[in-house]
Amino acid sequence: MPSGKRGRFPVGTPVLDAARSLGVYVESVCGGRATCGRCQVEVQEGHFAKHKIVSSNDHISARGAKEERYDRVRGLPEGRRLSCSATIQGDLVIDVPQDTVVNAQVVRKSAIDRIIERNPAVQLCYVEVDEPDMHKPLGDLDRLKVMLDRDWGFDNLLVSQYLIPQVQGILRKGSWAVTAAIHRDLEASRPNIIALWPGLHNEAYGIACDIGSTTIAMHLVSLLSGRIVASSGMQNPQIRFGEDLMSRVSYVMMNPDGRAQLTKAVRDAVTELTRKVCAEGGVDPNNVLDAVIVGNPIMHHLFLGIDPTELGQAPFALAVSGSVHTWASDLGLGINTGARIYMLPCIAGHVGADAAGATLSEGPHRQDRMMLLVDVGTNAEIVLGNRNRIVAASSPTGPAFEGAEISAGQRAAPGAIERVRIDPATLEPRFKIIGSDLWSDEPGFDADAETLGITGICGSAIIEVVAEMFLSGIISEDGVIDGALAARSPRIRQTGRTHSYLLHQGKQEISVTQNDVRAIQLAKSALYAGVKLLMEKLGVDHVDTISLAGAFGSFIDPKYAMVLGLIPDCDLSEVKAVGNAAGTGALMALLNRDYRREIEKTVHRIEKIETALEPRFQQHFVNAMALPNKVDAFPHLAA
Ligand code: FES
Repeated sequence: MPSGKRGRFPVGTPVLDAARSLGVYVESVCGGRATCGRCQVEVQEGHFAKHKIVSSNDHISARGAKEERYDRVRGLPEGRRLSCSATIQGDLVIDVPQDTVVNAQVVRKSAIDRIIERNPAVQLCYVEVDEPDMHKPLGDLDRLKVMLDRDWGFDNLLVSQYLIPQVQGILRKGSWAVTAAIHRDLEASRPNIIALWPGLHNEAYGIACDIGSTTIAMHLVSLLSGRIVASSGMQNPQIRFGEDLMSRVSYVMMNPDGRAQLTKAVRDAVTELTRKVCAEGGVDPNNVLDAVIVGNPIMHHLFLGIDPTELGQAPFALAVSGSVHTWASDLGLGINTGARIYMLPCIAGHVGADAAGATLSEGPHRQDRMMLLVDVGTNAEIVLGNRNRIVAASSPTGPAFEGAEISAGQRAAPGAIERVRIDPATLEPRFKIIGSDLWSDEPGFDADAETLGITGICGSAIIEVVAEMFLSGIISEDGVIDGALAARSPRIRQTGRTHSYLLHQGKQEISVTQNDVRAIQLAKSALYAGVKLLMEKLGVDHVDTISLAGAFGSFIDPKYAMVLGLIPDCDLSEVKAVGNAAGTGALMALLNRDYRREIEKTVHRIEKIETALEPRFQQHFVNAMALPNKVDAFPHLAA
């Protein structure tokens, strides 16, 4: 457990060997010498004693001298055994404890729990190497390779060039005992010694990083336990070159050193974030040996130092669409010199490695039900399908959902309005702001508002306020603010030839204008039209489940998204916010190399749809301008 794999083994088989023969990854750094303690398991069922004394009737062997010594020196938690030492004596259910992997959403509050079975690309291997012998003139490095083959089964090993001059010193420092970090991502390619330490080295970490155009999010993870040691995020400093993706591409096109500047900005940011998570987790950056990175195609290209100009115009040609394996030292990330970087494949010119990460995380390809996966940014990345067939597209939603182009829009930050309700009888609003637990009509709210200030409306609340305006009759199905209501409520105001709705009158006036409603209509129509196009391609008239990814998806209320017709009709209990699914996908690929193969195969068979080339897109777009839609029904809303 938790993999559920089972098998039959002769009495006396070490639990570690049984696990391995079942394909269950159990860590072992010391190679079964009972010194590293990484191979711990728990016996869940079978005849055994939870305490230290094991009787002869038990289905697992009594603790041997080595296990006892380990317990005396390092301490084994109650109920734990070293699987390299404990042998099977009867029927057992064995639990491989995985520290719960918690994917903390770095932007705000939500978190996703899941357990990721480990099989990392980097493995630590302790070996004791023969001392040099004048009669056997095999080099120190060659004798190290012999032992790595004998004890760990790694033949034909490559050695990172930078290590070769250091091997003799490390072997002598460790008195001929060393720990090698072996990178073995692809079965077809030769495993590689990427780092070497004297003696037993018991620490290996990796980073999973999602480079968003607005935010860069990172997890630092122990490759030996799967535990997330630290998570953090920061604003993408490329913002100073352009708020959205296309303006950054324009910057590259118009400035001779533009690409180099943008590449440096993002690499410096990833390096700084790595330093930050390492400091938070108390981890030496030298112990970070692997990194998995996802991002939209433009972020992906700029991080790799590739000019993204081609992605700014049809046919949106990617320089590289397959997964990328490279060395961290080439990109200057400040982690171990031998550390590797793996970037997930891109799906299409506008559907990047981040969408691949989200696909890996949510797994439409693993299920029978029809899943819609949407990651909303300035472009909505949309994936639709199930195990039989998957299609993907991007839709130009623009920055309205992120609060840009909205008169009182702002990023999610303390003081921003995040929840809104409008009384249909009086048209009076009540709202909540980030940083306060109170609604605006509750006692104590004014004190919070005084401290925090009420600064604007964040992206998720824009959906809510427009939907509430629609539900309370302030705006029509066409999205027009009803000026006649000005007679009923002072909150409806005339501004030029259109009207606006006053949400809050404080130090700062916060209103929703006709232009704001129009911007949301355009954005939601683009998203819906993209989804509809994909549904048509698959010949389906409904979706079974919807996953809303990204910061925006995490904080919008699915009901309001459906009221406005952002997403197609679906049972509301099947619509879920999945947080930073792209980051979770990166984490999965970091902790288990099998997921790398899985997503590479899946991306290969995803059919890419270019919305700009599809004549039906325009028609779907026009229909989707109405609230919720001119032609499509939303029976689950009525229910
Ligand atoms: Fe190291 Fe069991 S493999 S203690």
